[in-house]
Amino acid sequence: MNARAIASPQPIEFIDLAAQRRRLGPRLDAAIAAVLDHNRFILGPEVQRLERALAAFCGAKHALGVSNGTDALVLALRAKGLTTGDAVLLPSFTFTATAEVVCLVGATPVFVDVLPDTFNMDPQSLKLGISAARAAGLRPAAVIVVDLFGQPADYDALEPIARENGLWILADAAQSFGATYRARHAGAIGAIATTSFFPAKPLGCYGDGGAVFTEDAELAATIESLRFHGKGTDKYDNVRIGMNARLDTLQAAILLEKLAIFPEELVARERIARRYNEALESIVQVPRVIDGATSVWAQYTVVTPRRDALSAALKSAGIPTAIYYPRPLHRQTAYKQFLVAGNGAPVSERLSAEVLSLPMHAYLDEVTQDRIIEAVRAGVKA
Ligand SMILES: Cc1ncc(COP(=O)(O)O)c(C=O)c1O
Repeated sequence: MNARAIASPQPIEFIDLAAQRRRLGPRLDAAIAAVLDHNRFILGPEVQRLERALAAFCGAKHALGVSNGTDALVLALRAKGLTTGDAVLLPSFTFTATAEVVCLVGATPVFVDVLPDTFNMDPQSLKLGISAARAAGLRPAAVIVVDLFGQPADYDALEPIARENGLWILADAAQSFGATYRARHAGAIGAIATTSFFPAKPLGCYGDGGAVFTEDAELAATIESLRFHGKGTDKYDNVRIGMNARLDTLQAAILLEKLAIFPEELVARERIARRYNEALESIVQVPRVIDGATSVWAQYTVVTPRRDALSAALKSAGIPTAIYYPRPLHRQTAYKQFLVAGNGAPVSERLSAEVLSLPMHAYLDEVTQDRIIEAVRAGVKA
């Protein structure tokens, strides 16, 4: 190896979208050119093709392309008629959009803790959150279950609690589309499920995009109307107060090409995650996938009390990392006035101080991964 190569190793990407772009090659250019030629930029034929493909992929009856994963959640809550006085339970350790949408429809978020090994909703804390909501005079109406970092939550444990308490489940699968849970796919779990096609997601587009999934034809029809200004029989017949929340045809065309290679990418992500696990499990807490589930590894996140020192060491070794999420939502300025389940969400608090996400994407080669692994080993010792 020459001196120059040692002095300046290849930069490492946290998510290598350029590698995926190279693989998609001219097929992607042709897909975009086709839309530019037919000019049907709003709800063009690619949107319907994508909706059919997404529904077939995850086994949901209805899939609707929408503007982003946040609007997807708003559409779901609005379709179910959530309103003032309704409490919606959700994990404190998640992206802010999960809580934001509850407030946007006028309902009240109640924060629930997560489990230390899977980072997903803690069923015991959910029970405490329901009691806290009732004690505060709220009507617990729904629970938003988040499949954090790509792994489905433990629905077999959460669904009976929701059922016994009359709550419907909104599955926020923004990070988990493509994952499975005991013969079910993310997208086909919950009364309504949503996902995001934000560029960094395992299945991402080149801008904003999202989808809503449901088994219920009536709900699907309501969401279809809501995403298009509350349209009735045509776009100038407005039967409800809606939104402009449609998926762009161009993004649908891009997603169709990306969906074609998605199964292979998921195999690569799984291989890379296993390799990380084997190399790192003796030095940091590595992610645990529950029995009978698969993750799409939206993030590969380790836990260590020496998180800040490790992140600084990786930075000086040229390894990009990220902290998802540095503060639980119940500690955020915007949300600190809302209720927290009786246990006060201590796991969310600790994880916020100890999690670190490493580079993860389907094009991470072994040489680069070894560089990351070596730097983590050195960084933990330092
Ligand atoms: C858990 C979760 N919910 C909702 C969203 C919102 O998706 P979008 O950014 O497409 O609005 C995200 C996006 O990062 C997310 O991670």
